[in-house]
Amino acid sequence: MKILVTGGTGYIGSHTVVELQQQGFEVVIIDNLSNSQIGVIDAITSITGIKPHFEQFDLVNRELTSQFFSRHTDIMGVIHFAAFKAVGESVEKPLKYYRNNLVSLMNILESMSEFNIPNLVFSSSCTVYGQPDELPVSEKAPTKKAESPYGNTKQISEEIIQDTLKSSKMNAIALRYFNPIGAHESAKIGELPLGVPNNLVPFITQTAIGIRQQLSVFGDDYNTPDGTAVRDYIHVVDLAQAHVIAVKRMIELKMKQSFEIFNLGTGTGLSVLDVITSFERVSGEKLNYKIVGRRAGDIEQVWANSDFSNEVLGWKAKKTVDEMTASAWKWEKVYREIV
Ligand code: WQD
Repeated sequence: MKILVTGGTGYIGSHTVVELQQQGFEVVIIDNLSNSQIGVIDAITSITGIKPHFEQFDLVNRELTSQFFSRHTDIMGVIHFAAFKAVGESVEKPLKYYRNNLVSLMNILESMSEFNIPNLVFSSSCTVYGQPDELPVSEKAPTKKAESPYGNTKQISEEIIQDTLKSSKMNAIALRYFNPIGAHESAKIGELPLGVPNNLVPFITQTAIGIRQQLSVFGDDYNTPDGTAVRDYIHVVDLAQAHVIAVKRMIELKMKQSFEIFNLGTGTGLSVLDVITSFERVSGEKLNYKIVGRRAGDIEQVWANSDFSNEVLGWKAKKTVDEMTASAWKWEKVYREIV
């Protein structure tokens, strides 16, 4: 069965391609390589022994998107990762984010209905909850006004999908990620932030390996156990496996309604200092960090109620935070060829 993975050379996309191939799916990747490297295709191939079909073009181009689908009408499902995702950049360049993230989604939806492609898995984010009133946060919680244009594109995308389904025979599952971290055990694929990392864990590993001078911890005056902000960190391989389960659910016609939403989190909140402590424990490195002021747009704390995913999707995160930080550290060392 053929599955299209857009953004398949990206961080979560590449890990999902590996899991799909290992479960027997034929994978086709579309990526414009704006935030990833072509070498990821060979890395995936070296892990699974199967080279995914790859086409490089921008999904914002309606004509090229339609032409692609006309050549692959046997696609059984689309997993749509391709999007810009830097929260801070989205505040500086909102139109770049609205155009890229929304137009590409609309082009995919249009082509899927034109060529009767039945199933879509959409890469969403816990960002849609904002700072939840109640924790842990479940899929029933109301979405809140997004803190950033990036988060708003995820909210609007879910609405566009929902409205499109009403007038089509398609099915869709939105997977709301919490904080994906870590890397494949082979250390052949991992998080590849171009430039200065926005996210915590790549900044930690780049500091430990000497690329960054010092990690700034954004605030220790939150109303949390140690004052630093709390998130639900989840291993990227656990996350990738959830996508395969979601695709199978759709293909095997197990959905209860045409649009389903699932939280992908561990259900455990960890503070920034918890993650640093885990990293120091698994690496044996003393991390150079300092506490600074809060980062604009950050929420105080969020972690998932993952009961619905556990019970209905039949998926549960398995890996511990030490496995997450250890895999991130191994990836950083292998990528910088310091093993
Ligand atoms: C985690 C915690 C920071 C960097 C964002 C997006 C989300 C998803 C994941 C795309 C926070 C603190 C971070 C640093 C720090 N992105 N931190 N020093 O902001 O929870 O989520 O990335 O899908 O949609 O919103 O992740 O890793 O940036 O931050 O102290 O140098 O680490 O303040 O508390 P975030 P993050």
